[in-house]
Amino acid sequence: MRRTGEILVVDYIGVRTVSRLVAAMGLDLFIAGMANEIEDDYARWTQFDKSPRHAAHSVDGVIELMPTSDGVAYSFKYVNGHPKNTAAGLLTVTAFGVLADVATGYPVLLSELTLATAIRTAAMSALAARWMARPDGKTMALIGNGAQGEFQALAFHHLLGIRELRLYDTDPAASAKLERNLRGLRLPQLRIVRCADVLAAVRGADIVTTVTADKRNAIILTPEMIEPGMHLNAVGGDCPGKTELHADVLRGARVFVEFEPQTRIEGDIQQLPADFPVVDLWKVLAGTEVGRQGDDQVTVFDSVGFALEDYSTLRYVHVQALRRGIGREVDLVPRPEDPKDLFRYTRSGDARSLIRRVA
Ligand SMILES: NC(=O)c1ccc[n+]([C@@H]2O[C@H](COP(=O)([O-])OP(=O)(O)OC[C@H]3O[C@@H](n4cnc5c(N)ncnc54)[C@H](O)[C@@H]3O)[C@@H](O)[C@H]2O)c1
Repeated sequence: MRRTGEILVVDYIGVRTVSRLVAAMGLDLFIAGMANEIEDDYARWTQFDKSPRHAAHSVDGVIELMPTSDGVAYSFKYVNGHPKNTAAGLLTVTAFGVLADVATGYPVLLSELTLATAIRTAAMSALAARWMARPDGKTMALIGNGAQGEFQALAFHHLLGIRELRLYDTDPAASAKLERNLRGLRLPQLRIVRCADVLAAVRGADIVTTVTADKRNAIILTPEMIEPGMHLNAVGGDCPGKTELHADVLRGARVFVEFEPQTRIEGDIQQLPADFPVVDLWKVLAGTEVGRQGDDQVTVFDSVGFALEDYSTLRYVHVQALRRGIGREVDLVPRPEDPKDLFRYTRSGDARSLIRRVA
């Protein structure tokens, strides 16, 4: 919570502000900064309150609430996943979030998180891949070329040095859009190849990112497609009954998770018994577990998205926006001079005068 004069304000960061921030910083630096922020917060994993997210399922989708706190700041994200939305001209995933002050319980920031989630998910994927992919990997297959696609591609290009990107989507228009957007950036070091099917995309790839949206147990990757040493960044299987990998692909790999109790419910490992061995990513980042154990090992990041990453995201966008003086304030919380006199807001004249002071 900040003071403007004598007034407590809640900051608001909308889509336009995140868009301006990305333009001001450059997406590569923005993703890199976000990855650092997430890495720093994962390093203090034990300080955070952790719980699997609360999911409200419906026929075509899910609405989830993702809270966490480190005892100083509290955050939550509201996010949905409705794969059928795109057919109606709507996004599959939308999100917003709040950062609050634990000491007073006052909200300090209300922020868009649709765009920011795509950036944080890509940053998280690249951060995890640093420990799981072979360091000499240069080729990535990207299966699923929708809203998240460009962000994943660019995170792996800028942070991991991927030089060849193989695209496949059941919707050729999505791959054409992704190729057009990436070519528009004129990245001389990035070769883009559109492929006819999954197998053509993954053959010989060092990294395979699956980021498809389909509300069913899809099997995008089968055991025959997997080559020794591959790293699989499985992003789209993130809900009960919504997976991307054949169970035998997981059985043959070293599998890394964000927060095990949540991934057991939502990740690709939901297909396997509860004692299937997994590695906690935070322990790898803390140096108490190793990542990849050899050149031939197949590794899987069974990504579902954890609340801590959104806490990092909210803090990151807030600091960046404040630093540049962009974003604005909203009268989300009343502030009567007498805190016991909330009733004064029922007199429209009084409320208007306070709103004017905040604006
Ligand atoms: N793990 C995380 O942290 C995280 C974060 C954000 C989104 N997601 C998930 O990522 C997925 C993609 O999100 P989005 O916003 O890009 O959705 P989107 O709907 O914009 O794009 C998904 C794409 O997948 C394609 N697709 C569907 N089935 C396919 C198949 N069998 N083979 C190839 N392509 C296929 C669709 O045609 C579409 O272009 C969603 O499932 C979402 O829930 C995960």
